[in-house]
Amino acid sequence: MPGPTRISVTVDGVSYTDDVEPRTLLVHYLRERLGKTGTVVGCDTSNCGACTVHLDGQSVKSCSVLAVQADGSTVTTIEGLADGDTLHPVQQAFHEQHALQCGFCTPGMIMQAIDLLKNNPNPTEQEVREGLEGNLCRCTGYHNIVRAVLAAAGDGAATSAAATSAGGVR
Ligand code: FES
Ligand code: FES
Repeated sequence: MPGPTRISVTVDGVSYTDDVEPRTLLVHYLRERLGKTGTVVGCDTSNCGACTVHLDGQSVKSCSVLAVQADGSTVTTIEGLADGDTLHPVQQAFHEQHALQCGFCTPGMIMQAIDLLKNNPNPTEQEVREGLEGNLCRCTGYHNIVRAVLAAAGDGAATSAAATSAGGVR
């Protein structure tokens, strides 16, 4: 069996070099090695989206990516979005629109929403629903989540989203 592999990765603006088992999933590396427990695991079938992060600016389900695949890359998690006490505009919109109940899906939803707005700064409601199809919420019925994303789009969150993804952190 191959031994540990050394990876270098920048997560939320901080560079890390670590030896990881080749089979280690990115989500487990983030949570267990780096303590990034804001990124959560909601399933073992890669369909809930709770573990969504940005890998080189693209949203990915971090339970479906190996840590070694992130070698040399920039990862942004939910924990890298806020600027001190100032929430990212999409986080702020989720707060203002009451877009969460238990909050378990929220980190992944927000990461996916930012990616969606980066690619489509002015989505229709239908486009938001389709863009979030890979993220499941068991509590809200999605209505307020969609409202939050539309509100963030109206507030120009896409500009901020692009900056976030490009730089890893703001
Ligand atoms: Fe990754 Fe569910 S934990 S998709
Ligand atoms: Fe509970 Fe979405 S707020 S799963």
